[in-house]
Amino acid sequence: EAIPTIYKGLAGVVVDTTAISKVVPETNSLTYRGYAVQDLAAHCSFEEVAYLLWHGELPTPAQLELLCQRERAARRADRSLLSLLAKMPDNCHPMDVVRTAISYLGAEDPAEDDNSPSENLAKALRMTAVLPTIVAADFRRRRGQDPIAPHSHLGFAENFLNMCFGEVPDPAVVTAFEVSLILYAEHSFNASTFAARVVTSTLSDIYSAVTAAIGALKGPLHGGANEAVMHDMLEIGDPDRAEEWLLGKLAAKDKVMGFGHRVYKNGDSRVPTMKAALHDVAAATGGEKWVRMYDILEKAMAGATGIAPNLDFPTGPAYYLMGFDVEMFTPMFVMSRITGWTAHIIEQGASNSLIRPLSEYSGVPQRSVVA
Ligand code: CMC
Repeated sequence: EAIPTIYKGLAGVVVDTTAISKVVPETNSLTYRGYAVQDLAAHCSFEEVAYLLWHGELPTPAQLELLCQRERAARRADRSLLSLLAKMPDNCHPMDVVRTAISYLGAEDPAEDDNSPSENLAKALRMTAVLPTIVAADFRRRRGQDPIAPHSHLGFAENFLNMCFGEVPDPAVVTAFEVSLILYAEHSFNASTFAARVVTSTLSDIYSAVTAAIGALKGPLHGGANEAVMHDMLEIGDPDRAEEWLLGKLAAKDKVMGFGHRVYKNGDSRVPTMKAALHDVAAATGGEKWVRMYDILEKAMAGATGIAPNLDFPTGPAYYLMGFDVEMFTPMFVMSRITGWTAHIIEQGASNSLIRPLSEYSGVPQRSVVA
């Protein structure tokens, strides 16, 4: 019997069409709804990009105003959610907290199973609005600090930073953070987005799909890489040790976190923008040591393997220099990518086909049960 071709990891398989984003590895380009991500990062707020992903066009001033009003009105986490989160084990990973929170929001929503596009858009906005409140409360809880309520006069990025640190930081830091949110927002059929689409394809609800996506993002081969990068950099400690550390990792056949990509083989198109943002944060916070380590690791990796950094490589040290604890980095990725996930969930729902691939059986041949 002929064995069919197996596409392990679905590498190279085109599963469906999407009008949300386009990745062209050959030209190092990533566009959201036709706009280059670098242009969006240079000219737009995160709220405008969220609108673009959900609706297909950048908003008019009136549309943006309405979106911001709705987002600002939905930031508060209700008491039952906060008390549930307070019961989460102290040492659980913060990704467990956001995964549980989204699942709970679904359980609380009487319209959970209404999958109409208008309902799903409203749910997407509400989840996007409340996630920063959850992540910031968890960040402070782990430091033994009381939560800070959201402020409706602050923009999305500023409000989150204020809820974490009790003040709006240096404008260079706010801008760098907002740039990271825009770059993280969407990336076609990556593992977490695909997980969300698989769940949606069974006609399950948007909260279940986002919960699954959060689980997929947590892994270090995907979103968890931004945390892994910073753990490595802290382990290295001194830039003068960086090259030796990297060569040791490669000699041991270990993966170096923050390098390589399934789609980009000549470098990740988002990296130059985020690297510039890292430089700005380092200048504002006195973090030049990490920039020096970045450059040494990047150069040594290129020399030894030709493999370039991905977005998580500059984002890790940038978030660290902003003052975040490392374990909060992937939940911050969730705060942004939820916009892309929910755009894909709505797109999947609009032209659905159950996602159910085949497998080639490789186990024991058929046999009879002996009683
Ligand atoms: N360090 C060392 N070697 C690597 C790395 C790396 N980071 N990435 C790829 N390689 C090597 C790999 O060992 C393999 O070599 P060989 O052919 O000799 O066995 C070759 O390059 C191809 O790698 P692969 O793992 O088969 O390629 P893939 O497309 O399955 O992997 C990847 C993509 C992202 C899983 C991988 O590059 C990796 O594990 N990187 C580290 C984790 C990471 O940074 N993930 C973030 C991804 S991008 C942003 C995001 O989603 O959050």
